[in-house]
Amino acid sequence: MADVPTSTTALVADSSGEETRLAVQPMPLSDLGPGDVLVAVTWSSVNYKDGLASTKKGRVARISPLVLGVDLAGTVVEPGGSGLAAGQSVVVHGYDLGVAHHGGYSQYARVPAEWVVPLPSGLTERQAMTLGTAGFTAALSVLALEQHGLEPGAGPVLVTGATGGVGSAAVSILAARGHPVTAVTGKADARDWLLSLGATDVVDRAAVSDTSRPLQKETWAGAVDCVGGDVLANVVSSLRYGAAVAASGNTAGTRVPTTVFPFILRGVALLGIDSVQHPINSRRKVWQRLAADLMPPGLDRLAAEEVTLDAVPEALSRVLAGAARGRTLVRLA
Ligand SMILES: NC(=O)c1ccc[n+]([C@@H]2O[C@H](COP(=O)([O-])OP(=O)(O)OC[C@H]3O[C@@H](n4cnc5c(N)ncnc54)[C@H](OP(=O)(O)O)[C@@H]3O)[C@@H](O)[C@H]2O)c1
Repeated sequence: MADVPTSTTALVADSSGEETRLAVQPMPLSDLGPGDVLVAVTWSSVNYKDGLASTKKGRVARISPLVLGVDLAGTVVEPGGSGLAAGQSVVVHGYDLGVAHHGGYSQYARVPAEWVVPLPSGLTERQAMTLGTAGFTAALSVLALEQHGLEPGAGPVLVTGATGGVGSAAVSILAARGHPVTAVTGKADARDWLLSLGATDVVDRAAVSDTSRPLQKETWAGAVDCVGGDVLANVVSSLRYGAAVAASGNTAGTRVPTTVFPFILRGVALLGIDSVQHPINSRRKVWQRLAADLMPPGLDRLAAEEVTLDAVPEALSRVLAGAARGRTLVRLA
């Protein structure tokens, strides 16, 4: 193994002034923070939460300066007492990474052993970050719906924010598992791409934003929602009897103007999805499944773009504007 350098190059967010300032700069490895495991990062990715962490208004960054990047894949350089092997490929995401602990937009990251997922065979480090936090969250959403009873043949499954990271992975995973998927998007030009991921139908976001009636036509056998707001309220009111929506995000807003009627008259369920504190043992099992039966068949099609650190700030602005399509990968090596 090559000698470990004494410093890394990282994208650092400094919130000490009025506005958060982003800069690609050197940082001593000794400043990387606590943790047993030193990882040489090969890939990270751009998530909505990274966008939030890059601005004061986002209110998710809890330290300054902060190396951004809520997920990473790479190889172990120093395993510490973790039991991992030097040279082993790993994935790390969630917990405090990229919000209260220096994250993945760096050539090196130091992390606690209990955050580390050994990369399952069958997934490359690049593919792991094509999935990243978004793909993992999509997988948790699909598993939650299936645990609730969703089976192929039950009827159409709705996916909102379908061109985004969570949404596009959910479309692909659900379609591969035999569910007819209706993809909701605000992007008029994304239809063909969504059909290529496996969607059977694509509808405009405006068609699923009406919240005027507490109960709408029973349409969806299940739903994966990462946008919240009016869209989630509409989805809840359009679920079939006994169906569920797995809710993970809030790009359309945090307030959900719904009523109790869908819950008490149709027995529908709102399943909360959290990838950040998801327990490590289950996290490792879900990654095993992402390398097997949950792997989206069009995985490489989800990776829309590759950028290096200097182009990440622009990609973060895009994701905050709701303009991202698929996944943006950050190349570190
Ligand atoms: N709970 C968790 O553990 C967890 C994990 C990962 C992500 N998340 C959350 O899930 C959400 C999506 O994350 P992501 O990384 O997939 O983001 P993303 O790539 O930016 O995707 C979000 C998508 O939402 C849609 N959208 C954007 N603005 C909207 C608006 N005003 N109204 C309705 N739809 C809008 C857009 O898709 P269309 O243009 O196709 O409609 C956009 O591409 C975020 O809120 C994120 O914080 C939560």
